[in-house]
Amino acid sequence: MVELPVLSSAVEMDILDSSVETMHHASAQGKKLYVETYGCQMNVGDSEIVKGVMHQSGYAMTDTPDDADVILLNTCAIRDNAEKKIYERLNHLKYYKKRNHDLVVGLLGCMAERLRGDLLGERNLVDIVVGPDEYRKVPELVHKASVGEQGIAVKLSRVETYDDIEPLRTEGISAWVSIMRGCDKFCTFCVVPFTRGRERSRSFTSIVDELKRLWDNGFKEATLLGQNVNSYLDETLNKDFADLLAESARAVPQMRIRYTTSHPYDMSDKLIETMAEYDNICKYIHLPVQSGSDRVLQAMNRHYTVAHYIERMHKIKSLMPHCALSTDIIVGFPTETEEEHEMTMALMREVRYDGAYMFKYSPRENTKAWKMNDDIPDDVKTRRLNEIIEQQQRISHAINQTEIGKTFDILVEGPSKRNPAEWQGRTDSNKIVIFSHDRSVSESASSYVIGDTIRVRIERASSATLFGPVV
Ligand code: 5AD
Ligand code: SF4
Repeated sequence: MVELPVLSSAVEMDILDSSVETMHHASAQGKKLYVETYGCQMNVGDSEIVKGVMHQSGYAMTDTPDDADVILLNTCAIRDNAEKKIYERLNHLKYYKKRNHDLVVGLLGCMAERLRGDLLGERNLVDIVVGPDEYRKVPELVHKASVGEQGIAVKLSRVETYDDIEPLRTEGISAWVSIMRGCDKFCTFCVVPFTRGRERSRSFTSIVDELKRLWDNGFKEATLLGQNVNSYLDETLNKDFADLLAESARAVPQMRIRYTTSHPYDMSDKLIETMAEYDNICKYIHLPVQSGSDRVLQAMNRHYTVAHYIERMHKIKSLMPHCALSTDIIVGFPTETEEEHEMTMALMREVRYDGAYMFKYSPRENTKAWKMNDDIPDDVKTRRLNEIIEQQQRISHAINQTEIGKTFDILVEGPSKRNPAEWQGRTDSNKIVIFSHDRSVSESASSYVIGDTIRVRIERASSATLFGPVV
C-alpha cells in the first residue's frame, strides 16, 4: 500500500466551534459565491457540497463571476491539459481581482491536492487552496482570506464522506448523490488515489434517506457517484453496492437510478442481476476497459484480463440485452506497441460500445507510470487516438441507426442547448434525444414540462444523438 503524503497545512484549524459559525454568518451577510467546476461528475457533486457548506454559512449563490465576492474553481488533475486549462482561467481571473480588491479566489479539488502551496505565495494566483476532504473549512478560510490571510487545507481523510451535509443543488430534476469517496485501486496511470485519498463509503441509510428526500422534492433521476462504486461497503450494516442499488430502487420506485463509475474487477453477478431485476435502475453501464491488451492491462495494474472483461460483457448482455455500454480508453500508455493498439481497436469492435471516452496517456507525478518512460511520441498517440475515435463514431452511428422506428420513454430535461425551439431528454440507456417543442402544443392539455416522462419515436440518428417526434 502506498503511503499518502501528509503535509501540515499553513492554516491548521480544528472543527469550527459555534462562535466561529456565528461570525461566519455575519461576515458572509449579503455575499455572493460563484463556483466553476472542472473534471468528472464527482467534482460536480463536490461543488454542490461546497455550495451547501457555504450556503449554511450565509452565502448566496450567483451564476456569474461578475458580481461574485468569492470565486471558487473546483479543479481536475487527471490529465495535463485539464490543469493547463485551469491555469489559463486563473490568469484570467486576475482581472477580476484587479477590479475588485476584496474578491476572494479559491482553488478546490484534485489540483489543490497536487500543487498545494505552489499556487499561493509568490505566484499569488489564489487566496485559498482546499483539497477534496477539507470542504468544511471553506467558510473559515474564505473569511480569513477576506482579511488578508492566505490559507491552505489539503489533508486527506480516511473518514470524511460529508454524510451530514445537504448539497445545494441547482439543477432541476437530476441529482448527483455521492456514495463513496477516494480510490484504492492504484491504476499505475492515475493520480486519483493521491488527490482523493483512500476509499470510504457513506452510510447506507443516509444515502437511501437522501434519495427519498430528493424524490419528495421533485427530482426524477439520481446518479449514485463514486470513483469506484462497486467497491461500496457499509461495514456496519454489511451492505454492498448491489444491496444499495436494490434498496434505492425500492425506496424510490418511480425515480430513475443511475450510477458511475464501475471497475470491471468488481462487476459482480449479484450487481448485474440486481440491475436486471429493477425497472427503475437504468440500463446503462460505464465500464472503463482502458486497453485491449492483457500485457498493457497488467502494466496499468487493472487486475483483470480482456477475457474476464468480455465475459462480464456477455453476462450483462445475457441478462439485459438492451443495456447500453460505454467505456474509457487510454492510447499511448508507456511501451504500448502498434499490435497492442490494434488489440484495443479489435476489443472495441467486439464489444460494440454505444459510446466511449478516449484519451491520450498523460504522465502524472506520483503515479507508478510516472517513473516509466513516456516513450510513445505525441504524433503516434494522436494518430492512435484518431483511429479509435473514428472507429467508435462509426460503431455509435451504426448502433443508433438501429434505434430508428423504435419508441422510447424519455425523461424531459428542457430546451436543447443548440436550438431552444427543440427540447432534449434522455432514454433509460442514457442517449440524448431531441424533439421539437411546439409552443402551441406545449400550452395544450397534452403538453409536457421538465421532469415529465414522454414517448418519442426515433426518426433520425447521428452518432451522438437521436431525433424524433413526441407520440
Ligand atoms: N492519462 C490519460 N487518461 C487518464 N485517465 C486517468 N488517468 C489518465 C492519464 N494519466 C482516464 C482513464 C479513466 C478516466 C477517468 O480518465 O481512462 O478511466
Ligand atoms: Fe483512477 Fe483506477 Fe481509481 Fe479509476 S479505478 S480512479 S482509473 S486509480
